Amino acid sequence: MVPIISPICDHSRDQFFISASPNMDGRSTPLLLLLTLALLFLRVSAREFLSPGSSMSVEDSSDVLRSPDGTFTCGFNNISQTASIFSIWYSNTAERTVVWSANHLHPVYFKRSRVTLDADGRMAVEDYDGRPVWENNVSSSSSAQQAQLLDTGNLVVKGQGDIILWQSFHSPTDTLLPYQNITSAAKLVSASRLLVPGRYSFHFDDEHILTLFDDEKDISLKYWPIPSNDIWTKKRNAFSTTAIGVLDSSGYFLGSDNLTLKAVDWGHGVMRRLTLDYDGNLRLYSLNKIDGTWSVTWMAYQQTCCVLGLCGINGICVYTPQPACACAPGHEIIDPSDRSQGCRPKFNLSCDGQEMFLKLPATDFHGNDLRLNTIVSFDECKKICLKDCNCKGFAYWQGTGLCYPKGTLVGGVTGPSIVGGSIHLKIPKTLQVPRSSIPHSQPFGPKYVPNCSVKSKHFTVNFWDQPKSSQNGSHSHYLFLAYGFLLAIFCVELIFVALGCWFLFIREGKKLMGVWPAEVGYEMVTNHFRRYTYKELQRATQKFKDRIGCGASGLVYKGVLKDKRAIAVKTLADIHQGEEEFQHELSVIGRIYHMNLVRVWGFCSDGPHRILVLEYVENGSLDKTLFSSERLLGWSERFKIALGVARGLAYLHHECLEWVIHCDIKPENILLDDNLEPKISDFGLAKLVNRSGSNKNVSRIHGTRGYIAPEWVSSQPITSKVDVYSFGVVLLELLMGARVSDWASNAGEEVEMVLGTVVRMLTKNMMLEGSQHLWLPDFIDLRLNGQFDRLQARTMVKLTVSCLEEDSRKRPTMENLVQMLVSVDEASGTMQ
Ligand SMILES: *[C@@H]1O[C@H](CO)[C@@H](O)[C@H](O)[C@H]1NC(C)=O
Ligand SMILES: *[C@@H]1O[C@H](CO)[C@@H](O)[C@H](O)[C@H]1NC(C)=O
Ligand SMILES: *[C@@H]1O[C@H](CO)[C@@H](O)[C@H](O)[C@H]1NC(C)=O
Ligand SMILES: *[C@@H]1O[C@H](CO)[C@@H](O)[C@H](O)[C@H]1NC(C)=O
Ligand SMILES: *[C@@H]1O[C@H](CO)[C@@H](O)[C@H](O)[C@H]1NC(C)=O
Ligand SMILES: *[C@@H]1O[C@H](CO)[C@@H](O)[C@H](O)[C@H]1NC(C)=O
Repeated sequence: MVPIISPICDHSRDQFFISASPNMDGRSTPLLLLLTLALLFLRVSAREFLSPGSSMSVEDSSDVLRSPDGTFTCGFNNISQTASIFSIWYSNTAERTVVWSANHLHPVYFKRSRVTLDADGRMAVEDYDGRPVWENNVSSSSSAQQAQLLDTGNLVVKGQGDIILWQSFHSPTDTLLPYQNITSAAKLVSASRLLVPGRYSFHFDDEHILTLFDDEKDISLKYWPIPSNDIWTKKRNAFSTTAIGVLDSSGYFLGSDNLTLKAVDWGHGVMRRLTLDYDGNLRLYSLNKIDGTWSVTWMAYQQTCCVLGLCGINGICVYTPQPACACAPGHEIIDPSDRSQGCRPKFNLSCDGQEMFLKLPATDFHGNDLRLNTIVSFDECKKICLKDCNCKGFAYWQGTGLCYPKGTLVGGVTGPSIVGGSIHLKIPKTLQVPRSSIPHSQPFGPKYVPNCSVKSKHFTVNFWDQPKSSQNGSHSHYLFLAYGFLLAIFCVELIFVALGCWFLFIREGKKLMGVWPAEVGYEMVTNHFRRYTYKELQRATQKFKDRIGCGASGLVYKGVLKDKRAIAVKTLADIHQGEEEFQHELSVIGRIYHMNLVRVWGFCSDGPHRILVLEYVENGSLDKTLFSSERLLGWSERFKIALGVARGLAYLHHECLEWVIHCDIKPENILLDDNLEPKISDFGLAKLVNRSGSNKNVSRIHGTRGYIAPEWVSSQPITSKVDVYSFGVVLLELLMGARVSDWASNAGEEVEMVLGTVVRMLTKNMMLEGSQHLWLPDFIDLRLNGQFDRLQARTMVKLTVSCLEEDSRKRPTMENLVQMLVSVDEASGTMQ
């Protein structure tokens, strides 16, 4: 099953709305005085630290650790009449706000359980029978002095000389406090309402980008920042060397990936926390000191309905105009007090063809696509779902013919922005579904009032982050002065939320002229990727004046868009596909982003014209540099190119949402930017291949002689290993600085023969260990004068040989190749 994200919600905007006003001043109220007194009293009874050999008991609720300034408390927190969890919480909030917990997986009994500290720093939570259910991991053997709760909310175990043996800040649960670092080793996991870990997590991904994940049984889906958005829209930096992020006490978070977020009430003196909530939304909260309540001052998802887990399985978020959850027709609420559990069907599907489909207009569910059926008719899509017993319904996009059979219905949302998209729910023919049970948003409709005499179909969730209108007069006055412009944003956002995605649609209506229908709801999130008219491109290229290349697939011209972006415009010569299929393929390509792949900005499909609009890459293609006599590529540049190309291909083969085989890797298709960082072009044109391995359509494109794998000409199946073979040839050319086919024609031989000879020669030479590889300087581009890294060169030779294996199964994968290259890239510093 290929998880394909169906992005329907645009979360790329950086504005936010604020809920209640945070505390503005320290005006004392009798309540505050009382709180302070209570606090003073508690502080007397609470401990300041726990010494080795002593313990804290679950039975005495005043047996807690308190931070010196009283902000935080640490102790047993009862989650029911009989069960407790060792936790840290804010001391004075209206409702207890837990910021860290130790044994949330194993709550302990309310009698006889305790937490102990050993002389060696080991801290353990023991159940009533003395069985430890949680332990901290101290590595050092130093003896412990005490456990102490710091003012930051960090529980530390200190050893001799105040060194920290262990700290709770290194193992966060669902909350990050100011000054608590999130590193690549740390992970926030959402807590469900019962405090057990939920399915959402927030941590650094493998590109060192702070990401929200939906961890399902066997797959982990990224959902924020929107994976289909490009890195510029995300405003993040991939692959930074460190992975760290920290929130400061003024409400400003900065990550090493440039994740920047700022509380609307930015400034010192406010207590804050960043929490991954049970619904999968990441929110920054500020404490209102007067009434001890929290207000949201930033959140990852601005549109409440776009939060994945909000309405649960089979639930649909509707705007009424307030966001609310409804069950899909024929389903009933599982737990009215926890909408995130979703709805269960009131019917059983027999899967005997006796089913029908119920149309839910302007509705979509997130991901969980059983397969992507490129372009099919509505009836065909229906048949596909009918035949598949796992299919619960399908999404169909009128106009484009995109068909997404769904295995699970989650993240449902309905709204006017989902133009042309509808869900067709599979239900038994016998099921009676009243029209009124079909959820539909009413952005301009009358305010939804629940009819209490009917069993509630809609249920307005208790959104804690809904903007409340400012209740307090003097406060709102202050707010207006201090946060005037924020208030303006707030108002705009208020309207925005009320109208759902509709507002965005209208506002951007002008910009969206000339896009195909689905883009209005569906492809809009791929932001920069769009359709261009032929006229626009004529203007951008000054009537196709500046030709910069001509390849097998067509001529390439340079141009400049209205927004000053330099582009390369590629006119595709023989595309025989239908327009819709072409558009679909392009929409998939448009979502692929990697620093070593040329970005596709858009396309033009106007009458007979099929044109690609690509990122313009400064230094042209690799063949012009590598084989030219004017310019010599140094060793480290060649190595960087090899590694970059390997990374780009590994991404195409293993990481991107759709499985892409390039099929035409050669120096002409490797472009170099102004830092000589390589970018692969022309990917995805070779038809997107199913991960399951069907390759019926691959044959119609052609590779380039000299770079094509042997199985290409025989009738064996084409796999990603054809790219590995071509990459091997490119490696060889990087090593030699000469084109293999030129070599062959100089020798008057067939290129395949020459390759075979070279591989045999290299294999033999590689076995001459001990001789210090004296042959190597003679083999490697003589123009380099022996200026190369021996280890890297040997590795590249070895990899070349394994890539050029006749048997495709013996060739390494691109991921293996990246690992091998990276391993010698790091070593190179000492080997030069
Ligand atoms: C925790 O204990 C207190 C008193 O010991 C009790 O009032 C409260 O209801 C308990 N909380 C839960 C969630 O059971
Ligand atoms: C301590 O380490 C063990 C084994 O490495 C691990 O299973 C356990 O989860 C760790 N405990 C904590 C609190 O990190
Ligand atoms: C957080 O990271 C910074 C910089 O690496 C470091 O100086 C600081 O001690 C770290 N804080 C904690 C609590 O680990
Ligand atoms: C970093 O983030 C800021 C604010 O979001 C943005 O203005 C800036 O362009 C980003 N920088 C990079 C290098 O992406
Ligand atoms: C569906 O099937 C299950 C078990 O086969 C049964 O317990 C349940 O009552 C059925 N539900 C309906 C609505 O028929
Ligand atoms: C509420 O529902 C009942 C039963 O379906 C119906 O008779 C009544 O007219 C409804 N009231 C409103 C205000 O819609």
